[in-house]
Amino acid sequence: MSKVLVLPGDGIGQEIVAQALKVIDHLNNNDNLGMELVHGLIGGTAYDETGSPLPQATLDAAKACDSILLGAVGGYQWEALERDLRPERGLLGLRAEMDLFSNLRPAILYPQLASASTLKEEIVSGLDLMIVRELVAGIYFGQPRGIETRDGERYGFNSATYYESEIRRIGHSAFKIAQKRDKRVCSVDKANVLEVCELWRDVMEEVAKDYPDVELSHMYVDNAAMQLVKAPKQFDVMVTSNLFGDVLSDCAAMLTGSIGMLPSASLNKDGFGMYEPIHGSAPDIAGQDMANPLATILSVSMMLRYSLDQVDLADKIDRSVNTVLDQGYRTADIASEGDTVVGTNEMGDLVVKALQG
Ligand code: IPM
Ligand code: MG
Repeated sequence: MSKVLVLPGDGIGQEIVAQALKVIDHLNNNDNLGMELVHGLIGGTAYDETGSPLPQATLDAAKACDSILLGAVGGYQWEALERDLRPERGLLGLRAEMDLFSNLRPAILYPQLASASTLKEEIVSGLDLMIVRELVAGIYFGQPRGIETRDGERYGFNSATYYESEIRRIGHSAFKIAQKRDKRVCSVDKANVLEVCELWRDVMEEVAKDYPDVELSHMYVDNAAMQLVKAPKQFDVMVTSNLFGDVLSDCAAMLTGSIGMLPSASLNKDGFGMYEPIHGSAPDIAGQDMANPLATILSVSMMLRYSLDQVDLADKIDRSVNTVLDQGYRTADIASEGDTVVGTNEMGDLVVKALQG
């Protein structure tokens, strides 16, 4: 019996998580999934109800659970709040508090969606890339940070910092994943300019010695952005820092046609994980039954695979998503000519129906 904390969050978070819950219910009732659900608040919704984007009750619940399923956080109405109260703080706080340092962001092209990519089919077809992003250190969390007045004008500053232990552990994550894939790690940095990246590169070289079966290469982040668009299939596993990983993972996601298709995992050293779609809260389409719930449904599959050791059911979810795509059903974000466009709810129902078949 596993216990999972469900945090729908803001914007489309509510509607997409509702579809994932349909899938979980179905597997609980028919396939002995044995998942107990606990519900909690995060983000702007949590701020509105409790005055904090990460209430203590949510943190306590997270610590008492085996995994977290998260929707998305953020929205226009909370943008003017003091920084510590903004929805994003809730997400960043949860990542930090649970020490979820290893963020896995796969970019896989579903063959059925090759025409939805903005890139030519031959560039992206067969794409299967894993971005391993460091998630609880680097410039996102480095001190000092702030906005002050200096020399009579406003001055903003952040610090890009890494302890070698923080680099080493994300390195090990990446190499271990590469061992189960094509055994190639590309470490992305900006070592030609930044000292922190010089250290990053050195430590990656040290970690590589423990994995003689895996090939390590290095790439500067500007070139990596270009290569992702030019020849993305050259990569197997890409490992990078918090900020570079944020930028490059959106770029990689778009290669696949829709950011609405991609799940992610954020893991700590014990394999505890938070699972969420890569996309954001999309307030512009929230509540309109338009959002693509597949990334959230696939996040459940990733949870079963990486934290809960229920690989068979993970495979079953993946197969059902494939079936629905084969049948030509698409939410608006991934639709091409000739497809049947369906809403969020119907997409959830279709996946459940495919699970039955
Ligand atoms: C992501 C998001 C977050 C990040 C935001 C919402 C704080 O963009 O998960 O990629 O920057 O990490
Ligand atoms: Mg991002």
